[in-house]
Amino acid sequence: MEKPLFDYQSDVADYVRNTEQMFRIMKEGVDRWCGGFKGKTVLEVGAGFQLPHGGLTTCLTLRDGAKRAFGIDIASPEEYAARPDHVAFWRAAREIYGVDVRGLDEGRVHFASQDILFDDAMFSRVTMLQMSASAMYFRDDMFDVMFSNAVFEHVPDARGVLKEMFRTMAPGGAAYIHWNPFTSLEMGGHDIGIPFYFPWAHLRLTQAQHIEMLRRVLADPALYSTANPPEHTITPARAKELAADPALFHKQMSDDLNRLRVRDFLAYAQEAGFEILHSGYHIKSDLRLYLTDKVRAELKGYDDDELLTSFHSAALRKPKADA
Ligand SMILES: C[S@@+](CC[C@H](N)C(=O)[O-])C[C@H]1O[C@@H](n2cnc3c(N)ncnc32)[C@H](O)[C@@H]1O
Repeated sequence: MEKPLFDYQSDVADYVRNTEQMFRIMKEGVDRWCGGFKGKTVLEVGAGFQLPHGGLTTCLTLRDGAKRAFGIDIASPEEYAARPDHVAFWRAAREIYGVDVRGLDEGRVHFASQDILFDDAMFSRVTMLQMSASAMYFRDDMFDVMFSNAVFEHVPDARGVLKEMFRTMAPGGAAYIHWNPFTSLEMGGHDIGIPFYFPWAHLRLTQAQHIEMLRRVLADPALYSTANPPEHTITPARAKELAADPALFHKQMSDDLNRLRVRDFLAYAQEAGFEILHSGYHIKSDLRLYLTDKVRAELKGYDDDELLTSFHSAALRKPKADA
């Protein structure tokens, strides 16, 4: 991601603060449902190493008292270490939040994955690893707390991920998860700008029609800038790039989405053995106006909650052994 996708990423300090904000949202859920980070061994599932901010939320758990924190992603943290946008992000994070990573002055981001080499209080406690969340190589019962943001809609095997989270979670431990169900108006299709021009295009249109819709929206700043939330407004440079081949953009988006629905997510979690402490639909009431009778008739088989939810939050607990 050399060129920023969204406007707020153009200002690196804003981008760092926005990531910290994302951490606060996760932290609120972890405090409420998982007993907080303090003294815990923590795992972030899908830390996002291909993105400049990938790993910052994992590191910030230490500020909150985590004993050790691990971040995993199918992307490798090393592969992106020398990217200028990653280095700039982590330099800003060091300045703003005092989160230090090694190599910054040499133009690299090293999370010290081989953390046994360091005895520094911070580094010996953070480990970033490339690993599939559906085939983790951690031992059983290792983590007290897990969290994950915007990952469950992307993993090819959500059921397998929940099984692995259960296996590696300590009895009594809990996970807090935010993700974007495929049915969601705002983020379900990940089709920037379209949801408010043609709501639920990804559920209502054929592939060819959806590509045509993308072509139209990406060619017109007045249309792609209707993104909501506004931070999802893409930059003109990125819109131009995507508009050059809307079919390819559509393919990249669809290949990266597993079409997961809330009911399936909850069923997989229970099947894995988790107790569902919380399942939350986050609905902005002003979005209801998009669910007209016409649209509703086209979307039979989906309920209002899953269509209107901006994201879904879940808290899952692994019961104690003697429970
Ligand atoms: C939209 S990003 C979210 C990153 C970060 N959590 C955030 O909030 O910005 C989704 C991430 O899921 C990761 N991912 C997809 N499939 C995965 C898998 N099987 N195991 C681990 N990570 C995976 C991707 O590589 C990507 O970094």
